[in-house]
Amino acid sequence: MENYNTISVQTIAITNQKGGVGKTTTVANLGAALAERGKNICLIDLDPQAHLTMHFGIDPASVEISIYDVLTAEAYLHEAAVAISPKLTIIPAVIDLAGAEVELANEVGREQILRNHLRTEPLPYDLIMIDCPPSLGLLTLNALSAVDEVIIPIQAHFLALQGLGRLLETVSLIQQRINPRLQVTGVIFCMFDSATRLADEVLKDVSDFFQSARYQNKPWSSAHIFQTRIRRNIKLAECPGYGTTIETYDPSSHGAQDYAALADEFLSVLDKTSTETSSIEPAPSEHPIVKANSLEMMTKLPSSSTGEP
Ligand SMILES: Nc1ncnc2c1ncn2[C@@H]1O[C@H](COP(=O)(O)OP(=O)(O)OP(=O)(O)O)[C@@H](O)[C@H]1O
Ligand SMILES: [Mg+2]
Repeated sequence: MENYNTISVQTIAITNQKGGVGKTTTVANLGAALAERGKNICLIDLDPQAHLTMHFGIDPASVEISIYDVLTAEAYLHEAAVAISPKLTIIPAVIDLAGAEVELANEVGREQILRNHLRTEPLPYDLIMIDCPPSLGLLTLNALSAVDEVIIPIQAHFLALQGLGRLLETVSLIQQRINPRLQVTGVIFCMFDSATRLADEVLKDVSDFFQSARYQNKPWSSAHIFQTRIRRNIKLAECPGYGTTIETYDPSSHGAQDYAALADEFLSVLDKTSTETSSIEPAPSEHPIVKANSLEMMTKLPSSSTGEP
């Protein structure tokens, strides 16, 4: 099988199975800000809610070829691509995508369909960013199997860290069994209220957790905690209703400033280094044939950080 894209195209899944943490808002506005800075960006809407598709003013009911057709072998990715601007493309979702998990239930290799497309189709992008649904089901597994990098948006909220351990455990299993290049490269704080003590505490817990993994052989050992925090800003919640991104909707808003700063930080920190490290072959012990022991794979956060009672 020819492998066109693994070195030249940066591939990132924006994921957190917790709902409403800012995944779609980040994919839309970070993607658009990176396109503004000259990168050729493709965004994939892998969520049956189709919020990313609607964020760009596309009515899912009017979409003829979508990511659903790609997953069910009816189309190639480039056939589903819709140009938003010269440097920004979206592969839209439709509500039918919810049925894909059931339809593909008996398919062999069903979690690797997107991976096969990304690796075999020549795609003319610098960066492909995937908006994942709020679950760890088949769609998210497809994303994690397909990309080199994971970025986790987190809301500094009482229950924010609940489930992070399970997400990291899933990343670990996918890295061992299917996708040895998979790394968590970043954590972004979204809807951040910097004045609150709770936000500072959650920030510290998350930073300490990732810091403690620095010298361990984990897929998140090199995760970068983005210094740019996306502040809570009503304009960010308004702009999807106008089918546009924050930079177009209100360029002077805090939301536009934060996503512009995030794009700059992204380019300075993650751009080149991630593609370089992703081309390094894993050590033999990390190879996917290593059988995962689920107990060993368990990724525990300190109990104070889980938000669980
Ligand atoms: N920084 C922010 N300030 C204010 N509102 C925000 C901000 N970021 C996102 N929102 C709003 O919060 C809601 C949830 O955000 P978003 O849809 O990006 O989260 P999500 O993680 O993609 O959700 P889901 O898990 O349902 O896919 C949306 O209404 C969005 O417009
Ligand atoms: Mg979303």
